[in-house]
Order: sequence, then C-alpha cells, then structure tokens
Amino acid sequence: MLFLSLLLCCFAFQAQADTGAWIDYPADGTATMTHYTIPDGFIAACGCNGDSTKYPTAAMSQMAYGSSDAFGPACGKCFNVTLLNTYTGDPPFFPTVVKSLVIKVTDLCPLSEAGWCSGTQTKKNPGGQYINFDLAYPSAAIPDDFFPSNASYYGYTDFGVWNVTYQTVDCLTSWAGAKNPAPWEVVCCPANPTGSSNDTCPSYSDDNRLPPDTMTNVARMFAVPYTLVTLCVLAHLFGLQ
Ligand SMILES: *[C@@H]1O[C@H](CO)[C@@H](O)[C@H](O)[C@H]1NC(C)=O
Ligand SMILES: *[C@@H]1O[C@H](CO)[C@@H](O)[C@H](O)[C@H]1NC(C)=O
Ligand SMILES: *[C@@H]1O[C@H](CO)[C@@H](O)[C@H](O)[C@H]1NC(C)=O
Ligand SMILES: *[C@@H]1O[C@H](CO)[C@@H](O)[C@H](O)[C@H]1NC(C)=O
Repeated sequence: MLFLSLLLCCFAFQAQADTGAWIDYPADGTATMTHYTIPDGFIAACGCNGDSTKYPTAAMSQMAYGSSDAFGPACGKCFNVTLLNTYTGDPPFFPTVVKSLVIKVTDLCPLSEAGWCSGTQTKKNPGGQYINFDLAYPSAAIPDDFFPSNASYYGYTDFGVWNVTYQTVDCLTSWAGAKNPAPWEVVCCPANPTGSSNDTCPSYSDDNRLPPDTMTNVARMFAVPYTLVTLCVLAHLFGLQ
C-alpha cells in the first residue's frame, strides 16, 4: 500500500516537473474562456499601451502564452473567439445566438495547479481544454450583454466559464483597437505578430530575465523527484493522503 501510494505520488510529481514545454497550439481550435477585471489604462504583462484596455483584450494561459513571467510570444496576437456553450450550470447552457469577439492578448494568466489556466502540453484544464483565454470584462469595449444567459431558468447570468472556438486573425484588419493611433508596438506588444522572429515577442522572462538555471539535466532528474519523494513519504507517514 505504501509502495503503491509512493509510486502514484512520484508519477504525479513527475508529471508536474514535466510542464516545462510551451504548448504548440494550432492556429484555430477550441479553448475555454473566463473573464477577469483589469483597471482602465492598466499596463499588463505584455507592456501594451494602457489604451489597449479601451478595446477587447485577454490574458492567455501561461503554457500557451509562452512565458512564465513577463513577455511571451502570444503578446499582441489576435484571436476571434466564439462562444459555444457553458457547463458549470446544470444542465449545460447552449445559447441560441452565436457571439464572437476579436481579442488581442495583452496579459499572462499564470499557470496554476487546478484552475482554468492550468493547461499544459500534456494536461487539460477542468474544462477539458489546453488553452484558456481570460477576457478583460466588464469592459467599455464589450457590450454588457455579450455573454448570453437565461436568467429565468438558471437564476443568474454569469456562468463564469465558456467552451469556445478560436481562430487566429490578422490584428490590423480584425481587432477594434487597430484603427486607434496609440502606439501598440511598445515594450513587447507587436501590432500584428505573425510568428516570425522580427515581429513576435520572444519568451522574454525565461530566456532573458529569470536567473539562469545552472542545474545539469542529471542533477535535475535526481533533485526534483528526490525532494518530492521525501515529501511524499512524510505526507504518507503523517496520514495526509
Ligand atoms: C430558458 O430555458 C428554458 C428551459 O430550458 C427554456 O424553456 C427557455 O426557452 C429558455 N429561455 C431563453 C430566453 O433561452
Ligand atoms: C465544447 O464544445 C465541443 C464542440 O462542440 C464539444 O465537443 C465539447 O464536449 C464541449 N466541452 C464541454 C466541456 O462542454
Ligand atoms: C469570427 O467568427 C464568427 C463565427 O464563426 C464569424 O461569423 C466572424 O466573421 C468571425 N470574425 C472574424 C473577424 O474573423
Ligand atoms: C518580418 O519578416 C518578414 C519576412 O522576412 C517580412 O515580410 C516582414 O515585413 C517583416 N516584418 C517586420 C515588422 O519587419
């Protein structure tokens, strides 16, 4: 029994230790969408001009965003997000209208253990998706009734999380803020990143800013599981699992 739980424990932590790779997501696909509040004029992780908050923007889940701290390759990208259905309500809600919105990624949604931004290359979030868009909402740029609802049936209007499809779109022709004269190309907020190195943010925090990781691969292989195994043994002995 102890052996089995140790084994499970190690697999669990090994999976966690393997979250290092960014998600190489397709240009078009499915995701979840949540929403969060961002103060008017706020300069978020990508360093976009504060005026970006006047237009539809979103944070992207860390492992798709491509950086654990500051700028990532997703900065400035535009996606057309279409609401499919909700599933936090019972029964799931399928709207009778199709709602879409073109957002620009200006922020990072940090990787968490179990939340909506917990998706990694190998692990889906609780909505069964690898990617989450965290929409800046409410927003002056988005109608208050953007999210469909059925208040008389559910007793509330905010489902919190939606199952969505997304398409990568050209910011210059599709994003509402593109016509604004504000300088989008500030800090690491390309006006229209295409994935090419001359117009896309590098994974700044991991390549250029975080302290260098001097541990060798062999050291890492032994160091992480060893500490965690110790913790697992202690946790087991003290009846924590
Ligand atoms: C709300 O849900 C109920 C039960 O499914 C349905 O009969 C009704 O037509 C819905 N109303 C709207 C506005 O979607
Ligand atoms: C999200 O939508 C897709 C496509 O319609 C569907 O296959 C999937 O089951 C949905 N997921 C949830 C959690 O509702
Ligand atoms: C976004 O997707 C919706 C639904 O597929 C579509 O009707 C709309 O034209 C798209 N908008 C853009 C800018 O691609
Ligand atoms: C980036 O490089 C591509 C291909 O060389 C070129 O077409 C594009 O204009 C360049 N973009 C910028 C912003 O320099």
